[in-house]
Amino acid sequence: MRVDEATEDADLAALRGRAIQILRTNNRGGYTVPTDNLYPFQWNWDSAFCAMGVATFDVQRAWDELDSLYTGQWTNGFLPHIVFHQVVDSYYPGPDVWGADHVPRTSGISQPPITATAARFILARAGDDRASRARAAALYPKILALHDWWDRARDPEASGLVGVLHPWESGADNSPVWDRPLEATPATTTVFHRRDVALVDAAMRPRQWEYERYIYLVELYRGLGWDDARMWAQTPFKVADVGLNAILQRDERDLLALAERFGTPAEQQRLSERAARRRKGLERLWDEEAGAYYSLDLVSGQSLKIASHASFLPLWGGLDDPGRAQRLADELQRWVDLCAFGAPTMAPDSPEFDQRRYWRGPVWAIVNWMLGDGLARHGCGELARRLRADTRRLIQRNGFCEYYDPLSGEGLGGDTFSWTAAAGLAWAFD
Ligand code: GLC
Repeated sequence: MRVDEATEDADLAALRGRAIQILRTNNRGGYTVPTDNLYPFQWNWDSAFCAMGVATFDVQRAWDELDSLYTGQWTNGFLPHIVFHQVVDSYYPGPDVWGADHVPRTSGISQPPITATAARFILARAGDDRASRARAAALYPKILALHDWWDRARDPEASGLVGVLHPWESGADNSPVWDRPLEATPATTTVFHRRDVALVDAAMRPRQWEYERYIYLVELYRGLGWDDARMWAQTPFKVADVGLNAILQRDERDLLALAERFGTPAEQQRLSERAARRRKGLERLWDEEAGAYYSLDLVSGQSLKIASHASFLPLWGGLDDPGRAQRLADELQRWVDLCAFGAPTMAPDSPEFDQRRYWRGPVWAIVNWMLGDGLARHGCGELARRLRADTRRLIQRNGFCEYYDPLSGEGLGGDTFSWTAAAGLAWAFD
């Protein structure tokens, strides 16, 4: 072994140790908070990523993470974006604002579904042992119920595309892609007190203008009793987000693999048919001329022609066409080449790019993980390696932050962040 290789190994071992420590510290007894203070509860897709990170050092704890997330599942299959396991006053909007009728208390919107992907990952890490098989088998019907909910509640017309009814449902809370549909959304008249800007620099967080609309939507849906059909019919905000649809496609594919082991032939059939429908749905988001995937506003019927990191997530979802994968990789490479650290969430030469405000430019470790994995699967190994190396460098220099400035590398938002630690363990330090 060369000296520089030995140094690199020692650095990686130290980073791994630190990541494990963060995931242990943020464990609140069976579930992991995204970070202390700023996000004091269990978040849906954060937990799925955390479960994969935890699986690298404690398989049973990884299953516990998913099980505790599913204690928030409603009887109709819906899985909330937040499970409020304990009462903490430092977060707005808390459980009373959501007004959802479930114990433990929860929010009323969902987040990108990653739990089937996580379950397969944990099973593989566990060497497919008997204990893990039993845990996966117990979880499988719950994940299936979640996917049936997405299909029924968020694609009621069976178009193959699901719609998000709140920007937060996409996971990319204040992406510039939501600007136009939010302009058509009224603001709340309720006076509310944000807690996030007391904890993090306001320049790194959504603007007040957006928050007033986020809260309007929550209040509207609460008034509709969280009834899926009424929400779908009455909302002013309904978008077929390319990111969510791509992540759903990947999770559904992983669910089908679980169904082949733990499900019935009828369930397998249902999932295969759905997968075909989803492929056709995503195809409607492809703009051949621009060579890009764009989200679709389901209220106005217009394509939201703004490329963001989500435009590349079909690589994670799985593409049939290698030429198209290469086109996406070339454009992403262009974005990365304009930065000191990739991948930015917006094109650095686009008018919407804001290097410090979250989802409007900064780099996220979990986004790099999904893009890196997708690129590698489609034969674009060089860019995948670049994203891994950049993720390591960012963490090494600035710690396990929520997100990073793509031009300076500065760590932004919350720190000792769980999913950044998980992305390191499960992908970037591997
Ligand atoms: C922010 C992110 C969201 C994440 C949450 C907790 O709201 O936009 O995707 O789940 O923080 O980390």
